[in-house]
Amino acid sequence: MRRLDQLLASLGYGSRREVREWVEAGRITVRGVVADDPGARVDPAEVLIDAQPPDHPGPLLILLNKPAGRVCSHDGAEGPSVYDLLPERWRRRNPPVTSVGRLDKDTTGLLLLTDASGAVHQLTSPRRKVPKVYRVVLDREPAPQWVELFACGTLVLDGEDSPCLPAVLQPLGGREAEVTLIEGRYHQVKRMFASLGCSVLELDRIRFGSLDLGNLARGLWKELSINLLDEI
Ligand code: URA
Repeated sequence: MRRLDQLLASLGYGSRREVREWVEAGRITVRGVVADDPGARVDPAEVLIDAQPPDHPGPLLILLNKPAGRVCSHDGAEGPSVYDLLPERWRRRNPPVTSVGRLDKDTTGLLLLTDASGAVHQLTSPRRKVPKVYRVVLDREPAPQWVELFACGTLVLDGEDSPCLPAVLQPLGGREAEVTLIEGRYHQVKRMFASLGCSVLELDRIRFGSLDLGNLARGLWKELSINLLDEI
């Protein structure tokens, strides 16, 4: 049970003052009765706003096929954001919907977004060892010996002391390859190749744990069951 005004404000319906105005205007019912107390403790399942149930009263888990040119940041000054692709009300939720780790502005592909408490930490914790698979296009063909260099866990990124955990590099022919990481350091894929004198021209994440994008088009998102969190 939660306070009615807090519940609707946290789901992005508006400020608590705005919710109070909705109560005064008779737009909200609880168990079929017009609500008159914004501070009343309510069960979200029994609330209707303009005769509609609340929009996703439980936590959200969203799978986005990130397009290039969008940042994983809530700071509008950093440019167009992945969050702008979501429904406006979801962008006003509190706790806020946040990305599970970040993809660079020019990186495309699978990005999870959630407002479930603890989920970001749970999925990005190195202890959980969630494999992330990236498809890369490089500025040259990967050398055969890079496979072993990625795998042996000795590759040290510029400016860091501890080597990267073992990673899988699978050349796909030509300048393309797949990279599987179980950690998520800052710009890790690009920096791993940079340490070998090579640039990543395109970077697309195709898997996150057990999840892939299926036929989800670039720029689109779909909602996942929050129960999936434990199976990723
Ligand atoms: N590694 C990178 O270098 N960039 C990303 O966006 C993700 C992984």
